Amino acid sequence: MKINGCTSLFGIIGNPVAHSLSPVMHNAALAALGYNGVYLPMQVENLLDGVQGLRALGFIGVSVTVPHKEKIIPLIDELDSTANRIGAVNTLLFRRENGAEKTVIRGFNTDWLGSNMALGITGNMNLKGSRVLVLGAGGAARGVCFGLVKAGAEVIITNRSEEKGQALADWLGCEFTMAHELAHIRADALINTTSVGMEPEIDMIPIDPSLLANFSVVMDIVYAPLETRLLKEAKQAGCRTVDGLAMLLFQAAAQLEIWINKQPPIEVMRQALLDNLVRN
Ligand code: ATR
Repeated sequence: MKINGCTSLFGIIGNPVAHSLSPVMHNAALAALGYNGVYLPMQVENLLDGVQGLRALGFIGVSVTVPHKEKIIPLIDELDSTANRIGAVNTLLFRRENGAEKTVIRGFNTDWLGSNMALGITGNMNLKGSRVLVLGAGGAARGVCFGLVKAGAEVIITNRSEEKGQALADWLGCEFTMAHELAHIRADALINTTSVGMEPEIDMIPIDPSLLANFSVVMDIVYAPLETRLLKEAKQAGCRTVDGLAMLLFQAAAQLEIWINKQPPIEVMRQALLDNLVRN
């Protein structure tokens, strides 16, 4: 890619960002589309300074990751209605209208879209009317469950800490169940949003493997390793599996559409992720 005086600026802010796979994925996409743009990793500690810097430097689109997704809300000008409801922003769009004095920053959330698309496209699921068990109740679970409810799925949440799980269930008006009751649950899909099974603890599994046959589709948001123990056992139990790269991929594809209004090159983006995982 040739950077010149007209190159558009994109990037990701977080702390840390060194591990992020977003730069390889987005730069591969921009190159494949022949778009004159570059996507940069930016470690930001002071968020207010960071946002002012991005605005002043003429960025077009920026991803927001941990720990800034919630704290950025009061620092931007406009909030998309779903980002507002979820209470977290993972995407910024900078817009300068002709003649306007100031660039307007609008915040979106594409995490929930990413998990819905991963289930729908990779998992071949029709979410409307489906029944889904979600493991975990942290930040990731919030986006995943929001997306499921929005798509018309019936969601059951289970979590190690009951209080947190119940609070998420109450927020969305869905069911909470305790771990010891999971044996009675049959559902179209199971989604792990916890970090259980992530490197280096690759032998860990977030649910009793003997229960996996109760689900048609099993999705993990952990992508290191790509085939977690959960996904390995789910395959053996005859489930369709969706790996952790799918959600990462589709939330990024949705970002790119917001920024440049073009159809994202999904296969190119997934290959860039896979190539980078192998190298790590
Ligand atoms: P994230 O933003 O990535 O979702 P988080 O907000 O820290 O991270 O949430 C992590 C989720 O994984 C929580 O639901 C957590 O359970 P608790 O609410 O009980 O803490 C869950 N989790 C993390 N480690 C776990 C483990 N070893 N066993 C079971 N659940 C675990």
